Amino acid sequence: MEYAITTEGLTKVYRVRQTTDRKTETREIKAVLDLNLRICRGELFGLLGVNGAGKTTTIRMLATLLEPTSGTAVVNGFDVLKQPVDVRRSIGCLLPGERSHYWKLTARENLRFFGTLYGIPPRALENRIEQVLDIVGLSQRADERVENYSTGMRQRLALARAILHDPPVLILDEPTAGLDVHSARMLRRMVQELAATGKTVLLTTHNLQEAEEVCTRVAIIHGGRILAQDAPEALRALSTGLDVLEVTCERYALAVTGPGLKEEGKAKEPMTGRPAIDRRMTENEIPEEAAIESDRLQIEELVRRAVEARCSKCSVTVARQDDGYKVVVKGRKVADEFPSIAVTLTNGGWRVTGFNVSRPRLEDVFVELTGPTSE
Ligand SMILES: Nc1ncnc2c1ncn2[C@@H]1O[C@H](COP(=O)(O)OP(=O)(O)O)[C@@H](O)[C@H]1O
Ligand SMILES: [Mg+2]
Repeated sequence: MEYAITTEGLTKVYRVRQTTDRKTETREIKAVLDLNLRICRGELFGLLGVNGAGKTTTIRMLATLLEPTSGTAVVNGFDVLKQPVDVRRSIGCLLPGERSHYWKLTARENLRFFGTLYGIPPRALENRIEQVLDIVGLSQRADERVENYSTGMRQRLALARAILHDPPVLILDEPTAGLDVHSARMLRRMVQELAATGKTVLLTTHNLQEAEEVCTRVAIIHGGRILAQDAPEALRALSTGLDVLEVTCERYALAVTGPGLKEEGKAKEPMTGRPAIDRRMTENEIPEEAAIESDRLQIEELVRRAVEARCSKCSVTVARQDDGYKVVVKGRKVADEFPSIAVTLTNGGWRVTGFNVSRPRLEDVFVELTGPTSE
């Protein structure tokens, strides 16, 4: 496996001088601790954490803007301490709070300026500027001054600048923070498209939904440490939370004859207009409650049979609902059992009329791993 970014025991301790009661002392802030990251080429990797988790510190060390206290980091095959120039050539950065544009210049003039700084030859630069303006959707507005741009457009221009020298690795620190919903979505899509062209993207976010939606893999960072590192789907499976599967069903067309009993396939009690339970039973003078109880037990038995092979610890409850029954199955990964449940119910004479699945979200795992907020 070829990695675009690796870190070994990467650590940053800030030393802050504090003066209290005429005493000056140095306090240590352990911002990043013993970080081991493995980011493959072409991955869209998310570093997910709350404010103060250590995301920006990590990013700045990888971008050679901050020296690690200990440990190593290799970006695009280059060591951040020993080969910082090669690292910088390999990466495109989008960092927050960075005064990244000249507001009195147009977008095109900004890109021309930075492209010249990167040492891109003039002819190639003009072509590349057209390309990146197109990628970030600013071709039509390229000759307007940046001071008239919206926040979203400025951020897209910052992305254009980051990819101008066509680096294989993109490092984006909270690229969508502060953007409205539409601009954030647009930027996310652009980042995904860049990853699809083979670029490695490392982005940080405190937005769980963003991490879940766009990242192929996510590392959850908290208190400077990585708590988990995997695909969002796999991280969700770490949750102790359970899948909840709801299935509604009703009896297939009933074997009953008589006027008014079979309208549009749904049998009704002739006198009460209530849905039929099971004519064969009610005709035998079994009270309705007993018939419902009998149906409930039958459905429960069928569903248990369907799930028992792979999910012996599932809970199954069945309740009367409308014309039929609602089955609620709770258990780990029980959502995967839906096909088997549907087949068993159908074979048992029950038509499945609907289903709904709720799974633990990345948020559930995040909260379980990071604990309650201290704020
Ligand atoms: N320049 C600095 N000097 C001292 N402490 C810092 C500095 N930058 C960040 N920190 C501290 O390091 C920790 C991690 O911060 P940061 O990397 O900015 O986290 P994030 O980007 O996840 O919000 C925080 O406790 C923060 O207060
Ligand atoms: Mg930050």
